[in-house]
Amino acid sequence: MRNLLDPTDLTVDEIDQIMDLSLDIIANRQKYNEVCKGKKLATLFYEPSTRTRLSFTAAMMELGGNVIGFSDANSSSASKGETVADTVRVLSCFADIIAMRHPKEGAPMIATQYATVPVINAGDGGHSHPTQTLTDLLTIKREKGHFDNLTVGFCGDLKFGRTVHSLIKALKRYTNVNFVLISPEELKLPDYIKNDLCEENIEYTETHSLENAMPKLDVLYMTRVQKERFDSEEEYNRLKNSFILNTDKLKSAKSDMIILHPLPRVNEITYEVDNDPRACYFEQVENGKFVRMALIYKLLQWKSENRKTPVQKTIIEGPPCKYSRCISSQEPVKHLYQLSENGIYRCIYCEGPLEK
Ligand code: CP
Repeated sequence: MRNLLDPTDLTVDEIDQIMDLSLDIIANRQKYNEVCKGKKLATLFYEPSTRTRLSFTAAMMELGGNVIGFSDANSSSASKGETVADTVRVLSCFADIIAMRHPKEGAPMIATQYATVPVINAGDGGHSHPTQTLTDLLTIKREKGHFDNLTVGFCGDLKFGRTVHSLIKALKRYTNVNFVLISPEELKLPDYIKNDLCEENIEYTETHSLENAMPKLDVLYMTRVQKERFDSEEEYNRLKNSFILNTDKLKSAKSDMIILHPLPRVNEITYEVDNDPRACYFEQVENGKFVRMALIYKLLQWKSENRKTPVQKTIIEGPPCKYSRCISSQEPVKHLYQLSENGIYRCIYCEGPLEK
């Protein structure tokens, strides 16, 4: 059965299919308004959300289906100590497909081990957010027309920004995509993602200066400093104003550059930028609903066709993962590691390296 935990769970061809289906949905809304009639989506949100949960809800409603779920772990039996494993076994009795957000990295992976219906990762800690990636890709497709030959700048919190991690993993599979990583030293992109870029000879540069990077960029992807992932409030306060995009800074940008942001924003884009024709972050939100419609439809279709996961990776059992944000520290799971492209075994839940 097919799930979506990471953008690379989809082949490039399958991403193209989801893009094409999203565009067809946009052009022919009525054609799709009963295709999920009688189906139920469960939204299990253990962490706050506005866009992702409500766009999943709107998407399923526009496909003619229904939605059940919770938007706060405290209103579910998680507050009584129920595990993710048991919760998804229960929800598999009620729903045809599950979208889960959780503060621990790898929680949706655990869900796939126990669910009998497709599971979609709607954001797991600072790790991954593949449906935001599909949203971002659809926006780039509609605004730029292609994914090849782009210089993409990621600015802000690249350490905890799960949307950044997922979008880089997706875009690196296209031709001649260059990444410009703009962050303070403390919030640089994790090594495991940079190691993959090096291994695959994909060009990237790191800088602390948004002004220097700006003239080269075709896409500027701004991000919020992720307050909820910091261990120290003092550290957050020191870094929270690292990058603020305003109209003055945009003067050196290309006239056809696009500005994306997964939202919510705090202060990293001033409101005056919203009036710049290059600002696409509210179009991006709407694209999120269409792409989630396409994804729900495809995953249910693939389940009925019994479509298998394209690549089976080598997996071994090992010692407990040492990363405190990994879900494996709080659920009854086997500690599993998969062989990555560069020959290192990584925890299947959080992608932390195997440390013996
Ligand atoms: N972009 C995004 O994930 O927004 P929410 O946290 O509001 O879902």
